[in-house]
Amino acid sequence: MRINKSIKFKIDGVTVKARTGQTIMDAADEAGIYIPRLCDVEGLEPQGSCRVCTVKVNGRPAAACTQPVTQDIVVENDTLEILNYRRDLIRMLFQEGNHLCSICEASGRCELQAMAYRLAIVEPAKYPYLQPVRPIDASHPDILLDKNRCIRCGRCIRASRQIDGKTFLDISAGESINGSVLTERTWLTQTSISMTGPFPREHVL
Ligand code: SF4
Ligand code: FES
Repeated sequence: MRINKSIKFKIDGVTVKARTGQTIMDAADEAGIYIPRLCDVEGLEPQGSCRVCTVKVNGRPAAACTQPVTQDIVVENDTLEILNYRRDLIRMLFQEGNHLCSICEASGRCELQAMAYRLAIVEPAKYPYLQPVRPIDASHPDILLDKNRCIRCGRCIRASRQIDGKTFLDISAGESINGSVLTERTWLTQTSISMTGPFPREHVL
């Protein structure tokens, strides 16, 4: 790939320099501009599933974590329209699962909870709580999979594949609301995966 170090584009009116092949997220991070995110995490290939990082690129929505920069694009990130869009996404994650932060052991060190605070989501629920009945898989000594709180960010799957080269985790039913992380029980009980990557254990609950 030809290296072009002179790409420039704008985020909310600020000129940002980028390199060929960089995503909008990476270039923004280097420039000290924060774009909210949940599924993206340093050290893993981006997946583009949570859409919390959605920005507008030349007026069209795009996931900043997967969208490559190109010369002179105009990116909107910190606008009221996009803030409200992100708020709706976070609300739907809370209302689709069973998130009772006050009795959750991850409270205070949870990125979903922190994002709700960051986006100042304080008003009552906008959509009905679905209160699904989902299993908790505690069959392995090193991994607890609570499907009530899983937001299907795919970090655990990407970490096991990209860091450990294993394939015992997967997501069922694609991106549907009934999708969930699956474990291959037999293999799981015979192996252990490294949780010493760039994310603490609670992020893969
Ligand atoms: S996982 Fe996070 S958002 Fe969900 S209940 Fe626990 S602290 Fe709250
Ligand atoms: S952080 Fe980009 S889609 Fe989740």
